[in-house]
Amino acid sequence: MTEIVKDINETGNNRLVIKELCVQFGSFVAVDHVNLMVEDGETRVIIGPNGAGKTTLLDLITGKTKATGGTVEFRGHSLIGRDTSHICRSCHVGRKFQGPNVFNELTVIENMRLALMGNDNFLGYLFRRQSREEAEKIHRCLDAVNLLDYENVKAVSLSHGQKQWLEIGMVILQDARLVVLDEPTAGMTAEETFKTGEMIKKNLADKTVLVIEHDMDFVRQIAQKVTVLHMGKVLAEGTFDEVENDPKVIQVYLKQDDGERGGVEECLN
Ligand SMILES: Nc1ncnc2c1ncn2[C@@H]1O[C@H](COP(=O)(O)OP(=O)(O)OP(=O)(O)O)[C@@H](O)[C@H]1O
Ligand SMILES: [Mg+2]
Repeated sequence: MTEIVKDINETGNNRLVIKELCVQFGSFVAVDHVNLMVEDGETRVIIGPNGAGKTTLLDLITGKTKATGGTVEFRGHSLIGRDTSHICRSCHVGRKFQGPNVFNELTVIENMRLALMGNDNFLGYLFRRQSREEAEKIHRCLDAVNLLDYENVKAVSLSHGQKQWLEIGMVILQDARLVVLDEPTAGMTAEETFKTGEMIKKNLADKTVLVIEHDMDFVRQIAQKVTVLHMGKVLAEGTFDEVENDPKVIQVYLKQDDGERGGVEECLN
C-alpha cells in the first residue's frame, strides 16, 4: 500500500486514460467499451441523455462500481479494483456526487472541517484541534465558493445552489488532482450556474477535471473538449462547436417533429 502511494505521488502527469471500459448489470450494458483520455489540466465535459451511463462512468472511475471489463489509469496507475477511499486519498481523486451531499445539521465550516479530515473520520473531527494552516485553507476555499459569509450557518438553511457550492468547496479543499463533478449546476439559477462556471475555471485550472452536465451554456463556458455518451457508448468527441454541429449528435438529440433545429440542451433536459 505504502509503495503505491509513493509511486502515485511521484509520477508526473495527471492524465486520465480509460480503455474499453465496460459494466454490465445483468444483461444490461450500462457502459459499453468506453475509451476516453483526459489530458493533464484539461476540463472535459460529458453530456448525454438521461440513462446514457454518465454517472455510472464516474462510479467506475471512483471505485463505487466495479468494472466488468477495461482499464482506468490515472497518473499511470490503475484505479481498477481499488476501493473508493483509496482512490480518493491515495490516488488524489475528488468527487462531487449528483445532487448535494452535505451534512445538513452541521454548519458550513463544520462540513468543510470534516471534508478536510476525510468524511469517515468523525472521531478525528471531534477530538483533533485544527491547525492555523487548516483554518486558513478552509477560509480560502469558502471564499472561492462565495460562502465566507455563511460559515456558521447550518447547511440545511442554504439554498440548493449554495449546497452545491459547499460541496464544490469540499472537493477543492481536498487537493485532488483529478476532480469529477456530476451535474454541479443542477437546480441552480442561470446566474448561479454562470458563477459556478467561473468558480471551476478559476479554482480548478491546474486540475484534470471531468464534469457531467446538461446545461449547454455552462458546457460552452467551461469545456475544453466535450464527450457525448449515448447508450453507454461514446457517440462523439471534440470541441463544443464540433460536437454541437456533429450530425450524429444532431440526429440523436434534436427534435425532428417541427423540422427545426433547437439547441442540444432541449433534448437533454
Ligand atoms: N447498480 C445498477 N444496477 C442496475 N442498473 C443500473 C445500476 N446503475 C445504473 N444502472 C442503469 O444504467 C443506466 C445508466 O445510468 P446512469 O445513472 O449512469 O445514467 P446517467 O447518464 O447518469 O443519467 P442522468 O442524466 O439521468 O443522471 C440507467 O439505465 C440505470 O438505470
Ligand atoms: Mg447521472
